[in-house]
Amino acid sequence: MIVAAALGLAACGFGEEGISVSKDDPNHEGAVLFASHCAGCHTLSAAGTQGSGNRGERTQGPNLNQRTETYDDALFAIENGGISGAIMPQNIVVGKEAEAIAKFVAEYAGGETGEPPRPGQNP
Ligand code: HEC
Repeated sequence: MIVAAALGLAACGFGEEGISVSKDDPNHEGAVLFASHCAGCHTLSAAGTQGSGNRGERTQGPNLNQRTETYDDALFAIENGGISGAIMPQNIVVGKEAEAIAKFVAEYAGGETGEPPRPGQNP
């Protein structure tokens, strides 16, 4: 029983538990998708993710609490595997899911930079 529960948890990543975006928010879906597809490498508190700080190192992506991203940059990173194309896999998600995540990232990244949210800049 315990093993099954642990596997279940692993299979769905961090789930929706740490997500601070309300279910009524249009970015909720993006937050859920981020938590399941991007959490392993990126910290972003609105999605309740902590990157891979505890299992280390090489694939760790930038802490998205400390960077602001535009919608275009986020979508570019998803399609091209990061800005430099070094480590991040390309096209982990595509189409509408990629767009939903990019919107969410544009809206919520940079929470620790002291800049106010920039809803006006997002499509
Ligand atoms: C295997 C680890 C890994 C996964 C999974 C991953 N990333 Fe990344 N990501 C990286 C690394 C490493 C970089 C930095 C290197 C680069 O820009 O090429 C990066 C860069 C980025 C950047 C650019 C940050 C900047 O300002 O330079 C964004 C935005 C981004 N990732 C978003 C995402 C999103 C959204 C997802 C989920 C769809 C995701 N990443 C999944 C490892 C990952």
